Amino acid sequence: MKAELRERIEVIDTSLDAYLPVRDVPQSEIYEAMRYSLFAGGKRLRPILMWECARMLGGSWETVRPFACALEMIHTYSLIHDDLPAMDNDDLRRGLPTNHIKFGEAIAILAGDALLNKAFEIVSEYEHKDVSRAMRAISVLASSSGTEGMIGGQVVDLASEGKDITLPELQYIHLLKTGAIIRSACVIGGILAGAEDDEILAIDEYAKNLGIAFQIRDDILDVTGSEEELGKPIGSDAGKGKNTYVKLLGEWRSEMLVNEFSDKAKAALSRFGDSADMLIKITDYLITRKN
Ligand code: IPE
Ligand code: IPE
Ligand code: MG
Ligand code: MG
Ligand code: MG
Repeated sequence: MKAELRERIEVIDTSLDAYLPVRDVPQSEIYEAMRYSLFAGGKRLRPILMWECARMLGGSWETVRPFACALEMIHTYSLIHDDLPAMDNDDLRRGLPTNHIKFGEAIAILAGDALLNKAFEIVSEYEHKDVSRAMRAISVLASSSGTEGMIGGQVVDLASEGKDITLPELQYIHLLKTGAIIRSACVIGGILAGAEDDEILAIDEYAKNLGIAFQIRDDILDVTGSEEELGKPIGSDAGKGKNTYVKLLGEWRSEMLVNEFSDKAKAALSRFGDSADMLIKITDYLITRKN
């Protein structure tokens, strides 16, 4: 599995590099800061999921390339901002000092903003043979990262720091802050590959459950992981009084839930038969991931 993922990461990184080259201009620092976080070594899970969902329906890397790169840029922007002193105040990300530690807060804020702009620039230049599909995908991209998606989740996550919340409230946070972008990765893959509406619903059901399982594992790794493998600080959540699955349910029950949500995710793909094999393998891999 590691080799299969590495192969895909290479393709994704080559495209990202082409979309965001080094520039020799007075404002070159912003390109440096954007590239610093973008190429710091993320798992590229979201572009991989988009690609695999498209492939399941007969699409290819070319079908999703601009959207997959745009989504990774949006994800990277969300991480740069998530690490800022005003938010999680973390100093390590993807194995390197966080963007604001390296470039200062002003540039880190601007680098995040610029990645978000770049993402929409790239997708708006995409000449898909079916314009209505591309427009629908842009709409999903925008809403999943906005106030009903990632940003909405971040707002409730921050507002809940140091408070006791219920499990449904925590699930709401996870569904939005992490689930929304993972859902849009998968759904956009389906849309661009020409999925029927009922196929999109099945893909969305897969991604929704995967997104929750993914964030629960992220919560567990904040307690049980190693900084070296994870590339980000351990114990950051407890230090800030964050609400996590581990805080509410303990490690063991959280592990159980990762398995439960992953099983639900995989079950949603049953209608796709063998074409879903790679997505199932990725899902299994994520259950036990160490980073
Ligand atoms: C980290 O995402 C933030 C969460 C939503 C949990 P990833 O674990 O996918 O981070 P990278 O992209 O590999 O750095
Ligand atoms: C972040 O969740 C989700 C985002 C939208 C960035 P976390 O705050 O748990 O992510 P990490 O642990 O810092 O990667
Ligand atoms: Mg956070
Ligand atoms: Mg964080
Ligand atoms: Mg976390």
